[in-house]
Formats: sequence, C-alpha cells, structure tokens
Amino acid sequence: MKYKFATLFVLSCTLLLADLSLLRAQPYEQFHPGEQWLDDIGTHINAHGGGILYQDGTYYWFGEHKGENNRAEVGVRVYSSTDLYNWKNEGVALAVSDAPDSEIVSGAIIERPKVIYNEKTDTYVMWFHLELKGQGYSAARTGVAVSENVTGPYRYLRSYRPNAGDWPVRATTETKRKKYDADTLEWWTDPWREALVDGLFLRRDQKGGQMSRDMTLFVDDDGTAYHIHSAEENATLHISKLSDDFQSFTGRYNRILPGKFNEAPAIFKHVGKYYIIASGTTGWDPNPARLLVADSLFGEWQMTGNPAKGERADITFDSQSTFILNVQGKEDAYIYMGDRWEPENPITGTYVWLPIEFDENGQPFIQWHEEWDLSYFDE
Ligand code: DGJ
Repeated sequence: MKYKFATLFVLSCTLLLADLSLLRAQPYEQFHPGEQWLDDIGTHINAHGGGILYQDGTYYWFGEHKGENNRAEVGVRVYSSTDLYNWKNEGVALAVSDAPDSEIVSGAIIERPKVIYNEKTDTYVMWFHLELKGQGYSAARTGVAVSENVTGPYRYLRSYRPNAGDWPVRATTETKRKKYDADTLEWWTDPWREALVDGLFLRRDQKGGQMSRDMTLFVDDDGTAYHIHSAEENATLHISKLSDDFQSFTGRYNRILPGKFNEAPAIFKHVGKYYIIASGTTGWDPNPARLLVADSLFGEWQMTGNPAKGERADITFDSQSTFILNVQGKEDAYIYMGDRWEPENPITGTYVWLPIEFDENGQPFIQWHEEWDLSYFDE
C-alpha cells in the first residue's frame, strides 16, 4: 500500500514536471521561451544579460554568471553552439578577482557583457557594465577585458566613465555653456525634465566622464565598433564610436532621445535602418519595450512605441531586452533575446528568445511563441 502510494506520488510529480516542460533536455530542436534551458552537462544556462558572437560556424553566448544574489561572484560565463538550441558550457571567460583592491573583485556588479572580435589585432574584446563593490549602482562605469581566445581567459584592462572632456555631436554652444545646475533642481519636476533634455547631467559629467550602465556593442558593416549605454542617470542613451582596436573610446558620441529613460539597449540593422529595442527603467520588473529607429547612428533617433504585440506585450512577455542576434545563413533573420529576471534567486532567471517579425510596412515587432524553431524564418 505504502509503495503504491509512493509510486503514484512519483508518477504524478513526473507528469506535472513534464507538463510544465521542466524535463526537457538536450538535444533541443526548438526554442522554448521562458523555460529552463539546460546546457550539455544538464545545468540551466547561466548567461544572463548576455550577448552572442558568431565566429567560424560557431555562436558564443557570453553572459553574467548569477548565483543567489545579483553580485558577481564567479564572473562572465561563455557557452558555444552550432545550432543555437544546444549549448556547450565553455566555462568562465572572465573570472572575478580575489584581490581586495581589484575593480572586479568578487562582490562587484558585472552586468550585460558583450564580446566583439577585432580583426586588426586578432583579439576578442569584452565590454561590460561595472559597479564597484559596496557602492550600489553609483559608479556607473564601463569595463573592458581582452583575450586571444574566444572563450578566454579574458584579461581585465580597466574601467571608467567614458568620453571625459568630450561633447556629443551637435552639442550647441548654449548646451556647453549653460550653468551647472544639477543640484538646484528638484528631481521629477517639469523644470528638471526640461533641464535634463537640455543637458543637465551631460554637463555635470562632461569633465569626469559620462555615466555608463546598461550597455551593448555593435559592429557596423564597415567594421567600425560602437558602445551603446544608458547615461545621464539612465535618462539618455549614448552611442559612442570605439577606437580601431575596439579597446577605448574616441570621444565621438551621440545622445539618443534625451530624457526618455531607455535602458537594456539591443540593436540591429535592417535594410539600411538602425533599430534599438530598449526598455523603460523599472529595475528588475518588466515593462513595455520601446522601438527606436534611425537612418544613421549619429543622426536623430525616433521612438516608435512598443514592438511587442499581443497578450502580455505590456510586460514584453515578462522579459527585458539584452541582445538581437543575427542568424547566419538566413536572410532577415533576427532573434530578440530577453531576460526574465528572478531577483529573489537570480540563478533561476530564464531567457525569452523570439523571432523578430516585420509587418506590412516593414516595421519590426515581436509576438509570443510557446515554442518555435529556425525554420520560422523560411516561411
Ligand atoms: C535593470 C537593468 O537593465 C539590469 O541590467 C539591472 O541593472 C537592473 N536594472 C538593476 O536593478
């Protein structure tokens, strides 16, 4: 009797788990947005706020290794795949340091790492959002590390607030000369908002360097690399041209949509236009995504509304953008990559990957798919 009960209990648990799709394992033949995603050793993929680099037939997924809290206690992890469904755990690409005076000491915050390959130096360059240990999110720096091997180990070089001493393109003499007034205006009031658009925090940070929080990287068709990040207290995205070796800033940058509070930028280029999917600024809670579009990276950007459509679009299907993946060998095939954060136990956070679709006006959008595969792009 006892055994019968135990068998029944195990059976019903198994059925329940199967129903919740928790028992899926490699080899995968589809994407299952928002579900647990196991790597080649049967562990849930630990690469949050990630980005993908494609190199010689293989995709490499870099992301934040998370534990029970959101501080970096391991570093940046990397996985590899040739089909985008099944990922091999390649270990830690950039390890945190145990030296107390290191900027990337265990306990610092390392978020949204992205890697690009520099042909001229035959080097892989990783940039990431860095917050110094014990300082919350106040440091707002970008950090850089390099490696001769794609999977690492990456050598940490430095971190800073970028573009110190430089003004953005199209900054007027008036913007540059206005009085420093960041401390005198009350936050969230109309005069404050106006001043914000007008360069309140831009001026405050001009000498010491602009704040750099949520970030991504983009390499354009001509091989020039750009760093895109939330600056000015998260009110404005900045896009900056990187140096030829991708390891530093050049001082040339553009302010994107001042005062619109965009974060989590993910960019792609399609038929000559640049698109950014971003989010609003609600911490770990999801909010409606935003689609930004421009004809040129250093031109004027427009905000066109929420690219997510259908049920739960108001919370972007419970996700926040991190990267847009260009699928190789297929035309116009882009994947929206988002994070479903679990701040109470970050290691359990899942990934929402959805195909980018185009409406009759050529406008990109995303909608929910319970499961899907790459043949979707052939239809
Ligand atoms: C939202 C950002 O997009 C995340 O990367 C992280 O910085 C959280 N905010 C922290 O609240």
